Amino acid sequence: MNAANPTSSFTFDSSWSRASGKVILFGEHAVVYGVRALAAGISRGVFARSERATADSVHVGGMLLAPDHALLGAVRCLRAQLGAAPLRLEFHSELPQGAGLGSSAAMAVAAARALSKSHEQELSDRQLFEAAQAWERVFHGNPSGVDVAAAQSNSVIAYSRGSHPEPLTLAKRLHLVVVQAGPPASTKLMVEAVAKNKVRNPAQFDKTLSAIASLVDNASLLLRQGELNAVGQLMDLNHMLLAGWMLSTEDIENACKIARDAGALGAKLTGAGGGGCVIALAENQERQNDIVNALARSGLSAFAATVGEEI
Ligand code: MEV
Repeated sequence: MNAANPTSSFTFDSSWSRASGKVILFGEHAVVYGVRALAAGISRGVFARSERATADSVHVGGMLLAPDHALLGAVRCLRAQLGAAPLRLEFHSELPQGAGLGSSAAMAVAAARALSKSHEQELSDRQLFEAAQAWERVFHGNPSGVDVAAAQSNSVIAYSRGSHPEPLTLAKRLHLVVVQAGPPASTKLMVEAVAKNKVRNPAQFDKTLSAIASLVDNASLLLRQGELNAVGQLMDLNHMLLAGWMLSTEDIENACKIARDAGALGAKLTGAGGGGCVIALAENQERQNDIVNALARSGLSAFAATVGEEI
């Protein structure tokens, strides 16, 4: 994966603030149209620290960004939302950009948390969410907010546009495998591509939305009961519906097949699709390792992400 290596020399101490990377378990894209989504904050994430300054500046992985870089525009929007003074920001990321793991939302949440520390400005979860959303709008048009809600969380949440995210209590931990399946795609472009499906055939589009909505309802029940075989089947179904919106690719299908052949209970694209990442659900840690190894043998870069324990 082209992310900064999480095992590199970076040490997390109290000067840094953290936010989680995310996977969407069910309901991406449909969440833009008001359907509930299930997402999770994962142990790989983004770290930020900041100090007050006379003008904004941003360092990513030790490199100072040019003043016209889009991230500085995002910093200004975040500050404007909070009425905060300029800052010098530093980031360390464990996430690949544009791969569907919520790198931009995690940067936004980590930045808002860092600002809260350096500017001694206490922020509620809601203020943090709104500030991070202001940042996200610079890159993604009109995002649903699921990425930001997951970046704020360390476990599984149910999220509907305009509502507070609700934590979901799992009966069993989720042994997931995350694999990068081809080059990343732009979330904004993929959201626009889905909107074209709605214009072309509104009745069919609404049917797909209702199918995803009931799938999400069933999945949240099954997750609460620990019925992982059935959860895996619903992941496959959600993937098929997303593929019907032309969000899958040959690389994504290939990664799903390798994971299923290696014993995954289910596999699907996660996030915007069109490239980026696939997630697969394993029955247990041993099977999770088998799936990571099978993907690696095929030349794909995969990692294990266990959800449902404190990060
Ligand atoms: C992207 O991670 C999730 C999408 O549903 C877009 C959004 O919710 O804003 C594709």
